[in-house]
Amino acid sequence: MPERVEIFEMGPRDGLQNEKRAIPVAEKIALVDCLSRAGFRHIETASFVSPKWVPQMAGSGEVLAGIRRAEGVRYTALTPNLRGFEDALAAGADEVAIFASASEGFSRANINCSIAESLERFAPVAEAAAKAGVPMRGYVSCVTDCPYDGAVPPSEVARVAKALDGLGAYEVSLGDTIGQGTPASIRAMLEAVLAEIPAERLAGHYHDTAGRALANIEVSLEMGLRVFDAAVGGLGGCPYAPGAKGNVATEAVHDRLLSLGYETGLDRDVLDEAAAMARRMREG
Ligand code: HMG
Ligand code: MG
Repeated sequence: MPERVEIFEMGPRDGLQNEKRAIPVAEKIALVDCLSRAGFRHIETASFVSPKWVPQMAGSGEVLAGIRRAEGVRYTALTPNLRGFEDALAAGADEVAIFASASEGFSRANINCSIAESLERFAPVAEAAAKAGVPMRGYVSCVTDCPYDGAVPPSEVARVAKALDGLGAYEVSLGDTIGQGTPASIRAMLEAVLAEIPAERLAGHYHDTAGRALANIEVSLEMGLRVFDAAVGGLGGCPYAPGAKGNVATEAVHDRLLSLGYETGLDRDVLDEAAAMARRMREG
């Protein structure tokens, strides 16, 4: 039996959050419903952030209310603070995610506070998630390069990843937010993080701006990671990371994993359908 590698689908959240056109809730629901047939265990569906900061995610509650839930799929949501967590819980998110940065410049630009302040803000979210029995994931952004501060030291990534792990994140997803990581810089970063957290509790979240995401996934596989974030059709980008292009495309990751002898549990035909839908949404 080939070993399974999990793809954590990002399309409806990281994929769409940067789109300029106000995408109707019904289109988002249709995309999630299509993705629900593909075999994912996780679909990032919503984001309970300030609508002033990310207008595209304003209808997140309606999206969660309108989807047809498939068995075995966790519909996840970003939660930057306690208010976001409470809204996510009320809307029926199965899992939440807190998100910090390994660089001060991006932390300020994205969530308007320092790294230390963000970790303080996440503590009550972590506490509330544990109390409610809701699984919580953690993201570290800018794990190799920051659009404001330049190269990011691996030791800083390890420090922030360890802090999220310490808050109770079941998995820490390592974000190459602007897709500038290289196999060498990803390797150096992972060596530092793996000294603190085992590979079973890490994921790779690579944007494909420079076309190196698949190579970076291969290095991460060699180092033991078995979960990767991706978005159908290569949708995406972060509004506070100038130049950030899409997440690596789910269908490309799927194909590469199969060619390397892994399995993903995903239905390629449904991925194609979802990718076509995602591209139409982008074109408007
Ligand atoms: P702030 O302005 O410092 O905080 O924002 P605030 O508490 O003063 O709130 C500002 C306004 O937002 C207030 O409204 C609040 O009520 C409201 P006003 O009084 O002005 O009318 N507000 C909220 N509304 C709805 N839901 C909430 C919420 N909280 C406050 N939860 C804040 C701080 C964190 C809220 C803001 O900076 C924010 O929402 N940032 C989110 C940015 C974001 O979503 N970025 C994209 C996701 S991260 C990403 O893509 C990277 C990732 O993919 C990994 C990678 O690639 O690296 C995960
Ligand atoms: Mg991202």
